[in-house]
Amino acid sequence: MVSSHGIANAFFPFAVALVAASQAQHAANADSFMLGACKIFAGSSSGVISVTFCMDALGSDSRSLSASHYSDLAIIVIDLLTSNTTSTKAKIDNILKDDGNGLKPGDATTVCFQSCQAAYASVLQGQLGIFYNVQAGRFPEAMSALEKLANMVEEYEKGFGKSNVKSLLAIENHDSFELAKLGALLLNEEH
Ligand SMILES: *[C@@H]1O[C@H](CO)[C@@H](O)[C@H](O)[C@H]1NC(C)=O
Repeated sequence: MVSSHGIANAFFPFAVALVAASQAQHAANADSFMLGACKIFAGSSSGVISVTFCMDALGSDSRSLSASHYSDLAIIVIDLLTSNTTSTKAKIDNILKDDGNGLKPGDATTVCFQSCQAAYASVLQGQLGIFYNVQAGRFPEAMSALEKLANMVEEYEKGFGKSNVKSLLAIENHDSFELAKLGALLLNEEH
């Protein structure tokens, strides 16, 4: 009895150390999967996506650490895009509701925001479909929907520039654009 306890006690710290080491290894592997993906896709985005943006975005979701396929990362990007779009839509709704912004009906600014509002509403409606397509392995469909979305957001941001209206949505449009592009690039590798 005494000796078996002795062995168990002697073994215990070793076992703990092994488990800790394997967890650290797992985290390092996961981290390097994400980093590797970010390097590849930043590289193939011809300057659109930076490694930093990719790492910040994916790193904000702990599921990235256990991702082992690009489609796992794509799901995370799609979720990020959904929460981005939801808050952008809410921001636009507020801007258009709030008379304090001095917006007048028919003004270029008002028109820009109204078209953005409609655009983001349609993006939100499409998000679930994109998510289900990825889950079901219909990557090309999801990919082209994300590409369309990226182009649309880019057009709306340009619309502000054309109307000489200061875009109050520059950051949001930029984030949505990059997330959609990143999602499309990830899925492009999966099919
Ligand atoms: C939108 O996405 C970007 C990039 O992932 C992130 O930094 C930002 O916090 C997100 N914003 C919201 C409101 O979710």
